Amino acid sequence: MTLKDKQTFRDALSAFPSGVTIVSTTDEKGRHWGFTASSFSSVSMDPPLVLVCIANTADSHPAFLSARRYSINILAQEQKDIAMHFARKGVDKFGPHEFRYGTGDDPLPPMLPGSRASLVCIARDVYEAGDHTVLIGEIEAVELSESAPLVYFNRGFRSLELETADSLS
Ligand SMILES: Cc1cc2nc3c(=O)[nH]c(=O)nc-3n(C[C@H](O)[C@H](O)[C@H](O)COP(=O)(O)O)c2cc1C
Repeated sequence: MTLKDKQTFRDALSAFPSGVTIVSTTDEKGRHWGFTASSFSSVSMDPPLVLVCIANTADSHPAFLSARRYSINILAQEQKDIAMHFARKGVDKFGPHEFRYGTGDDPLPPMLPGSRASLVCIARDVYEAGDHTVLIGEIEAVELSESAPLVYFNRGFRSLELETADSLS
């Protein structure tokens, strides 16, 4: 792929509006890991599967490869600062923010209160795909709120105008 083609590829991807998530887990030493991700997608209804892609260069990559569980927190409009913070490398990600942590031998992953939705996933499959790794998780539990979602589009954070287009149902 030439540089021009890569730029065109990036431009095409930036034309797709997505939500924004924070994916987080706790390793066996009790350390918390997380990163901002817009590559979240639903995969299957039965069983209920979702995916998220993590860069092979992410500091948290080894932790997510060996994770038994992780949470995917779909961010609310007010959580833009957390999204930016979790996209930075080498910072204390969890210290400044109020997560809810599991306890015991098989703890729940860190959950972010105030998210539009939080999904607890059991790690199912891992696929290498170019310079990223696809994590497939099975939903074990869901928490929902009524807040407006944070949107990422054209390289910037946006808020959704909650006008109803034609509904499918
Ligand atoms: C809006 C947005 C979406 C992002 N989506 C992803 C993604 O889907 N996958 C990914 O690996 N990194 C994504 N990133 C970049 C990571 O959040 C960033 O590289 C982070 O620092 C990785 O964390 P770590 O290296 O500390 O583990 C995104 C960043 C932003 C701002």
